[in-house]
Amino acid sequence: MTTSRLPYQDPRLPTAERVRDLLERMTLSEKLGQLNQVRADQAGVALVRTQAKAGLVGSRILASTAFAGNEAQLVAELEENNTVQRIACDESRLGIPILNGRDVIHGYRTIFPIPLGQAASFDPELVEQAAKHAAAEASAHGVHWTFAPMLDIARDPRWGRIIEGCGEDAYLTSALGAAMVRGFQGVDPSEPGRVLACAKHFLAYGTSEGGRDYASGECSDHTLRNVYLEPFRAAVRAGCATVMSAFHNINGEPVSGSHYLLTRVLKDELGFQGFVISDWAAVTEMIVHGAAENDADAAVKALTAGVDMEMVTGTFVAHLEAALANGQIDAARLDDAVARVLRAKFQKGLFERPYLDTTRATSSLLSPAARATARTLATRSLVLLKNQDSLLPLAKEGRRIAVLGPLASAQGELMGSWVFDGVASDVTSIVDALGESAPKLKFSTAPLMLDAQVQAAQRADVAIVVLGESPLRTGEANNIADLSLPRDQEVLLEALYRTGTPIVAVIAAGRPLPIGSVLERAQAVLYAWHPGTEGGRAIADVLFGDACPSGKLPVTLARSLGQVPIFYNHKNGGRAVNGYYPFFAPTHHGIRPYLDELATPLFPFGFGLSYTRFGYSDISIDRSEIARDERVKVSALLTNHGERSGAEVVQCYVRDYVGSVTRPVRELKGFRRVELGPAESARVEFELGPDELAFWNNSGKREVEPGRFGVWIGGSAYAELGTEFQVR
Ligand code: NOJ
Repeated sequence: MTTSRLPYQDPRLPTAERVRDLLERMTLSEKLGQLNQVRADQAGVALVRTQAKAGLVGSRILASTAFAGNEAQLVAELEENNTVQRIACDESRLGIPILNGRDVIHGYRTIFPIPLGQAASFDPELVEQAAKHAAAEASAHGVHWTFAPMLDIARDPRWGRIIEGCGEDAYLTSALGAAMVRGFQGVDPSEPGRVLACAKHFLAYGTSEGGRDYASGECSDHTLRNVYLEPFRAAVRAGCATVMSAFHNINGEPVSGSHYLLTRVLKDELGFQGFVISDWAAVTEMIVHGAAENDADAAVKALTAGVDMEMVTGTFVAHLEAALANGQIDAARLDDAVARVLRAKFQKGLFERPYLDTTRATSSLLSPAARATARTLATRSLVLLKNQDSLLPLAKEGRRIAVLGPLASAQGELMGSWVFDGVASDVTSIVDALGESAPKLKFSTAPLMLDAQVQAAQRADVAIVVLGESPLRTGEANNIADLSLPRDQEVLLEALYRTGTPIVAVIAAGRPLPIGSVLERAQAVLYAWHPGTEGGRAIADVLFGDACPSGKLPVTLARSLGQVPIFYNHKNGGRAVNGYYPFFAPTHHGIRPYLDELATPLFPFGFGLSYTRFGYSDISIDRSEIARDERVKVSALLTNHGERSGAEVVQCYVRDYVGSVTRPVRELKGFRRVELGPAESARVEFELGPDELAFWNNSGKREVEPGRFGVWIGGSAYAELGTEFQVR
């Protein structure tokens, strides 16, 4: 225990000075301790306490299994957090506090839509707000650090982890990822109610072959940088405190052993100043990958590559002392890793406020403000895909409505995967929410037996059928080989269709499913993702028209599994002839159809209907030519031609026609959510400059190249209203 105040304990000194002072006082074993993250329950609480006293615990992960996303976890034990912290602060030689990490992915107790659903809102302010609420609830329970945002671009919906990211687009993921970082960390992460963020999984984890989680990936440096790296560049710019190195093997190297990715690209090129944590057991898994001989070898390779803290496998503590003595690791690299971890602890204000105020914990949960944000965000995440004869919105009286399908009364399932602290009973089911919203209507439900469901549909004027996925089919390690709806749901839908009662299908799912059969049978289709605690109410708000749908697809919706991978920002084929192929679509004219399937998707990226009708006209550009470092302003007139107010996510796409390397047919480079009353118009402007127009070319730089650019403004990746400009 330390008594008089030492320089590193003095909050008035600059962080760099405190880090330097502390580092100079540390023994080798204490340094390695800072690089060690232990499971809160590892080999019993008693061992963690002993290790903490010896200064061997840098961080605790408040989780109890490797399948963290899919299994119930130990709760964040408030008293135990303080007990272990007290040992670290008062009984260890230097009193360095422990950093507690936990997966707070889309909410703590108040569960927001799955990140893929949040992405459909195209609303960075609201997404930031949600992360802020999650941080407030989590930090009141002793969590200092969350392992989010997940920034993996996903182009394969078989991969269960597609739910955790923002979809297929680098620009959208960058904007929302940065918003999440700001929401978690605030301007100053040491403020109460904030947590450190962790951008993961660096890098290109979404390339796993066949959509099989943990499988290896192959990806050219060109795509790695222009697609997968972009969101991490944005997160680093937003000041994200930590980055997680992925488990997988890419281009022949496990990421957690890749000096190229962790040190050259992340730390040197992007200038990342925070620390890198390896994903769960990623260091020892290098042995299984065939990239390390044993634990000692794996530890040396991971530290040398650029991993700063090791999650749960303890090889740094066990082996790096000998490795240093043998000259296998560099002392300066080791100090750099320790300095990075200490900096984050100072940044979090842990030395000043290591303990948790346990009295704040419960009162901070499920606040009306958090619930309101969850409801608005869920509402904005809902994507209306079809609304034949304006069946929606439904009137609140005068009709008999049957609420059917396997998820009609679901509560926990609406929260989705990666929920440790959400409670099913906090969730209002869709059927209950509909009843709350329209007390004058008569709703019927039925047991999930075909005959009962059919009879309920026969006796109703409209059937709301809630289909989709169990969260158990999504998230970590949960991949599927067949993207269709579970077979029993197809059978149910067909039987309900035959009753002739109009069907409103609500799809609650963790991935974009090829729902062609649903589109054929239902008059209206609302894609709801897994919408969280307030999801039922959000769905009722939209179905009854208290809210106007405005969500847009953050991923392309394929017609069938055989089209995967299918994404809007692909390269043009060499035999692209506009209009030559049947079912021409502006982003798919370079793709040859299959003999047994079209080239175009069911719905393009960015698509989503409204209850009102928006039109785009009068595109204008302030300059026809700019220099490489200049900016151009492009705008279009958005008009609400319908009879009700609504919001439209206006999107701006760019194409660089000729480059030193080939460029995608279109790329999203701006978006804005605009609310308009009936018959109102607004001019919506986007500015395009070096950040939007540059790309990584073969000179190893991110630059703007001269030439002709196309630009389109509209309501999806198929936007037709376009113009051009030149960069000289
Ligand atoms: C493994 C997952 O890949 C990662 O996303 C998560 O943060 C860690 N486990 C910790 O639970």
